[in-house]
Amino acid sequence: MNEEQRKAGTIDVLAQRDSKEEKDYSKYFNFEHVYQPPSLKDAKKRGKEAVQYNRDFQIDEKYRGMGKGRTFLIKTYGCQMNAHDTEVMAGILTALGYTPTEDVNTADVILLNTCAIRENAENKVFGEIGNLKHIKQERPDCLIGVCGCMSQEESVVNKILKSYQNVDMIFGTHNIHRLPQILEEAYLSKAMVVEVWSKEGDVIENLPKVRQGRIKAWVNIMYGCDKFCTYCIVPFTRGKERSRRPEDIIEEVRDLARQGYQEITLLGQNVNSYGKDLEDIEYGLGDLMADISKIDIPRVRFTTSHPWDFTDRMIEVIAEGGNIVPHIHLPVQSGNDQVLKIMGRKYTRENYLDLVARIKAAMPDVALTTDIIVGYPNETEEQFEETLSLYEEVGFEHAYTYLYSQRDGTPAAKMKDNVPTEVKKERLQRLNRLVGEYSSRALKAYEGETVRVLCEGASKKDDEVLAGYTEKNKLVNFRAPKSVIGKIVDVKIVEAKQYSLNGEFIGVSEPMMVTV
Ligand code: 5AD
Ligand code: SF4
Repeated sequence: MNEEQRKAGTIDVLAQRDSKEEKDYSKYFNFEHVYQPPSLKDAKKRGKEAVQYNRDFQIDEKYRGMGKGRTFLIKTYGCQMNAHDTEVMAGILTALGYTPTEDVNTADVILLNTCAIRENAENKVFGEIGNLKHIKQERPDCLIGVCGCMSQEESVVNKILKSYQNVDMIFGTHNIHRLPQILEEAYLSKAMVVEVWSKEGDVIENLPKVRQGRIKAWVNIMYGCDKFCTYCIVPFTRGKERSRRPEDIIEEVRDLARQGYQEITLLGQNVNSYGKDLEDIEYGLGDLMADISKIDIPRVRFTTSHPWDFTDRMIEVIAEGGNIVPHIHLPVQSGNDQVLKIMGRKYTRENYLDLVARIKAAMPDVALTTDIIVGYPNETEEQFEETLSLYEEVGFEHAYTYLYSQRDGTPAAKMKDNVPTEVKKERLQRLNRLVGEYSSRALKAYEGETVRVLCEGASKKDDEVLAGYTEKNKLVNFRAPKSVIGKIVDVKIVEAKQYSLNGEFIGVSEPMMVTV
């Protein structure tokens, strides 16, 4: 947090606001309360100042009883980063004395941790805010908050101010640690509390967390993204790239291992950039993975990797095996050079295929998955077909496919587009058919094989059946004693379904790890 932001905790709005919108929205406000809205223009800036590491974070004693006798519910949308932020907010709320509830009709604090990546993600959230209107009418004391990526967008904040008076607080992705102050302000205030910093703050190390389970854990290794792919809102909503210090990450992973966690996922918007901003040391993701592979935790995943800076060192470390799983999620977005160029992806089809060849040479058995955007402005049929042919050439095991969605403030939003929506949708269907064929083929190949499955608990459909994932992230259902929940077990696959595998339990797997 910089000094300016620190001071801005509670601001006199009249002194701060000078935009035209202020006049438009002034009627909704009691200006004595916190109003610090986002600015996409500021969010785009990348300052040169060094990141500060704050290890002294503490929740002020005066806030600690705030949640006594009160409950909270957090609804999470979007990616793993948001899921992990929810764990931090749950940690802060728990430290304040709140207890969790699943019941929206009784929760005293309801937070919507939102995703801005595509328009339909945003529409879902607006629908949910609308659904909560009756809650606020019936229980005016209940506090409703909107946080996460959407709250970093000016247009969203303005829309909420104008049309969703049932919201009490809007706070940004860089303001999570200020939740106690924001809550206090919301309790005291009759007006909506808006606190969204557009500029990222410090890396704060010791925020409390309540993790969602005791088997798998998320570990942030870096925050933000500086890639600015032309369609993407993330560099605006999550700020500049900031890596955590290796010693802090390693200590967190060691601690998770001591607690018995079986799997961790190293998280970042582009984990391959890890370490580039650490000026005093030469230390990248490959080095971090090498260090983490020495820790006695059975499985380590990482996401998401930008193909641009996937280094040979990383390939080498993943290929060594150990606890780093042989599954690489490598978003390609398009198979056509021109589209890739306009997307600002900074690699060509050939670069991508060359990287895949290097990965496969080192790990012939690797599972590759990807993300693809269909219907980029002006994408031609031929360009789209190059995406299909690239998919086949790589032989991905699965893909997340998306229709391009225009995001305000991104360079792509200014592009004219001559592709009708119907054409885009039809292309997406064709791509999805191909993805389905390859996914089924990948699953079918497991029939008769024995795989190692991290058993997570009962399956979603049947309480008597257990479920878990293989190293390559395939969902496996099987019957076994409940005592194997949380363990890695051997399962013989008997049948491949469309999205999952059915198997027979053999026994608890032998540990693969050697602790160094
Ligand atoms: N429209 C559609 N898909 C998008 N993604 C990111 N931004 C957009 C957008 N504006 C997709 C990319 C990315 C994934 C997380 O979401 O494929 O890899
Ligand atoms: Fe968005 Fe590109 Fe950054 Fe991924 S690498 S978060 S797609 S800008």
